[in-house]
Amino acid sequence: MPQNSIKTIQKFKLDKKKFATLTAYDYTSGKIVDSIGIPLILVGDSASMVIYGYDTTIPITMDEMLFVVSSVVKGTKNALVVADMPFMSYQSSIEKALDNAGILIKSGGAGAVKLEGGIEIVDTIAAIVNIGIPVVGHIGLTPQSFHQMSGYSIQGKTKEAAKHIVSDAIAVEKAGAFALVLEGIPSELAKKITKSISIPTIGIGAGPHCDGQIQVFHDILGLFDTFVPKHAKQYAQVAETMRSAISTYKKEVESGQFPLKEHYTSIDKSVIKKI
Ligand code: KIV
Repeated sequence: MPQNSIKTIQKFKLDKKKFATLTAYDYTSGKIVDSIGIPLILVGDSASMVIYGYDTTIPITMDEMLFVVSSVVKGTKNALVVADMPFMSYQSSIEKALDNAGILIKSGGAGAVKLEGGIEIVDTIAAIVNIGIPVVGHIGLTPQSFHQMSGYSIQGKTKEAAKHIVSDAIAVEKAGAFALVLEGIPSELAKKITKSISIPTIGIGAGPHCDGQIQVFHDILGLFDTFVPKHAKQYAQVAETMRSAISTYKKEVESGQFPLKEHYTSIDKSVIKKI
């Protein structure tokens, strides 16, 4: 399998081929996702919840992101690894955004970064692209604006709001992003945006008309089973499988069924006697 680049991702749109992308947060999950031939792995700031246990994506820091990004990169041979820029690592100044994007590429080993926002951050996107760092945009429902949006709700339902999101998409493409995540918008709006721009759209909760889809690793595996978001389909119940295996291990240790002879090493009794 070849090493994927931004060209690989853009070719999917040119060839009219749908593509699946997924998040990952550590060496093992990165290695598994990569082995399936998923062309783009996002180290999402959803790590804030599924790895670090925060309630939203707001608290996660650059250091916490850097740790998960470099772990995923170590497990990945072919996928393009995109690192999410955490909240307040790019909003306060372009200089700060450039420094932090640079850290995720240089120390984290990622091949691109992702930023949330539309027209208001196009100068930042352009500046990052200008120094040679590929950017994925992210518009619609932007979880880092949790408080401004009064929670996680579908965006772009009115004529004005939908128009604004279309303008965001066009502006982000113009700023130089090579792909665009559309999160939590009506499918008809995602279809219109996908037709209106030449970079691939990657949808989550945005319907079937996007060029690609992105899902959270823990959601599709049933690993984070506190709640199942509407946009997610569980392809397995891994949390349940883990609970069952750990419970059997516990019972076997308590009853003396584990460990068995094949799990340990013995030496001759005469050696022990001489100690
Ligand atoms: O953080 C994340 O996992 C994301 C995707 C859900 C798009 O931004």
